Amino acid sequence: MATSVPLEPPSRVLLGPGPSSVSARVLRAMSIPLVGHLDPAFLRIMDETKRLLQFVFQTRNELTIPISGTGSAGMEACLVNLLEPGDTAVVCINGVFGTRMADIVERCGATLVKVEAPWGHSIDPTDVAAALKQHPAAKVVALVHAETSTGVWQPLEEIGRLVHGAGALFVVDTVTSLGGHPVRVDDWGVDACYSGTQKCLSCPPGLSPVTFSARAVEALRRRKTKVQSWYRDLTMIEKYWGAERVYHHTAPISMNYALYEALRIIEEEGLEARWQRHERNHQALKAGLAAIGLGIAAQEGHQLWTLNSVRIPDGVDDVQVRGTLLEEVNIEIGGGLGPLKGKTWRIGLMGESSNAANVLLVLSALERVLPRCGHRVDTGAAVAAAARIYGSSAPSGQR
Ligand SMILES: Cc1ncc(COP(=O)(O)O)c(C=O)c1O
Repeated sequence: MATSVPLEPPSRVLLGPGPSSVSARVLRAMSIPLVGHLDPAFLRIMDETKRLLQFVFQTRNELTIPISGTGSAGMEACLVNLLEPGDTAVVCINGVFGTRMADIVERCGATLVKVEAPWGHSIDPTDVAAALKQHPAAKVVALVHAETSTGVWQPLEEIGRLVHGAGALFVVDTVTSLGGHPVRVDDWGVDACYSGTQKCLSCPPGLSPVTFSARAVEALRRRKTKVQSWYRDLTMIEKYWGAERVYHHTAPISMNYALYEALRIIEEEGLEARWQRHERNHQALKAGLAAIGLGIAAQEGHQLWTLNSVRIPDGVDDVQVRGTLLEEVNIEIGGGLGPLKGKTWRIGLMGESSNAANVLLVLSALERVLPRCGHRVDTGAAVAAAARIYGSSAPSGQR
């Protein structure tokens, strides 16, 4: 007699820092029959996936593929392929994920130069310029476009120009922005960029789309040493995704089906429409939160549409509120990380999860739960403020 627990997870409304909700189409894609990783039918899906990834990254880069593994695999792939022992890398740090990049840079045996900003603030381009002046031989400058730990959006264009002016390669983390905010790899001079499937692409976690510019590929070809990681070595992986079709590792077939279907959904919606949807839902949530005295913790003008970092009011217990939302309303929101632990909530509005119904649901739930946890609210105010945004004219436009 089997004693194991049945596989019956609850059906949650996923409004945390990821994963986001996944459409039935994507879930179905994961349950269709497998083919082999060299089957002509699968090779066709691989080619189409590359095309769709070029579309979401807004790039013509030939080397644009999903790496097996979650977002951290893409982060590692970008850094280990570009850095050799003795190289210098400038890493911008204003949260958890810049810190993680710095850790990987050191593991590559490269010299780490940190450019820091307080958590909750964006990186100042003049600090990047100063670092590049001090370290003119820097090979790589790496930063996070959408810092999920703090909800900060980082403008890329000016820093991209500085990096190229110094002859370095620009590495960008778009794990929480790709498919939710504009990401224009070619226009912004991004040389290596990675993302994750479980955020604004609305696919389960398991693949990490990456793209390498011609300059980055050239740097890869000019390496004097082998890539430190066999599994992440793009010189080998590209031979499976390119014309040669040389086996490297067995592609996770069902995950690739899921990503393909998720990308098709994005193509059907259109990127501009999708970005606008994310902006509109963020504005509505922000207005609703403000109406009950909850502010956004990230710097004004640099707030993500996809991840809202919300200041917890004095005297309110972080864990009690999140626990009540989960138990009573089936809503998952995230807690703060590092220095923001206990000080912020992180409400994700990513991909399928970014919709008006979810915004109104979480606001009405907060209106009910917060008074029990020591924060008085004007019942109905949050929902009414959000509804006014939905009733108003179009969002302010694209960044
Ligand atoms: C900005 C950012 N970079 C990298 C990662 C790492 O991705 P994963 O947890 O999928 O490995 C995350 C995960 O939340 C993230 O938000």
